[in-house]
Amino acid sequence: MSDTERKIIIAVDGYSSCGKSTFAKAIAARLGYIFIDTGAMYRAVTLHALERGAIRSGIVYEEEVVALLDRIAITFRFNPERGASDIYVDGDLAEGKIRTLEVSNCVSRVSAIPEVRAKLVAMQQEMGRRKGVVMDGRDIGTAVFPDAELKLFMTADPAVRARRRYDELTAKGERVSLGEIERNVRERDAADTSRAVSPLRQAPDAVVLDNSRMTVDEQMAWFMELFASRMER
Ligand code: DC
Repeated sequence: MSDTERKIIIAVDGYSSCGKSTFAKAIAARLGYIFIDTGAMYRAVTLHALERGAIRSGIVYEEEVVALLDRIAITFRFNPERGASDIYVDGDLAEGKIRTLEVSNCVSRVSAIPEVRAKLVAMQQEMGRRKGVVMDGRDIGTAVFPDAELKLFMTADPAVRARRRYDELTAKGERVSLGEIERNVRERDAADTSRAVSPLRQAPDAVVLDNSRMTVDEQMAWFMELFASRMER
């Protein structure tokens, strides 16, 4: 296979709300790769747990969440309007419902359950088996694809990330306060980096991208240079 045909796995890990999905989606579109948002999968399990009553009054009942895992069907279907795949839970479109603050407030605890991770990691490995994927998450370069050919670790100032999330949610009509969002961002950073199973860590061979003061175009130019140099190896 010639070098231009060779497809690789690109792992995009990093903190929440630093534009990982937007960036990973743009890279995938540029390269003709498949974009996989693994955070959406953890959110889908959380939404399902909320709807089925395995999370009540903000308390996550782990055994009840685990009991739901065997029966939940998570699928993706490409949506040409978004240029990305929408996520479905048991055949129902869940894309909008997984992005509420209610789901955001519970998802770190759900994603810390070992059985949840085992199931979703196995699904992700299967989805990347044929390469040509850009997968964004927290543990892609460390646990899902430790041999990924190109690993990025994204970060940005927490106040900048909170403002971006705030703008995103208010644009969708959610009534939220900036202070509440910033608290949620910081709580998720702490939970994601301190959990026992697959905590958020920068892989030793990952390249750091701090985009606090970078536009999407600047990030793309930076990435394309990095990608070209990797493909020359
Ligand atoms: O990227 P996001 O904010 O949509 O992710 C939602 C949550 O899922 C976040 O709190 C961390 C968790 N997550 C994870 O533990 N592992 C992944 N690979 C992706 C997300």
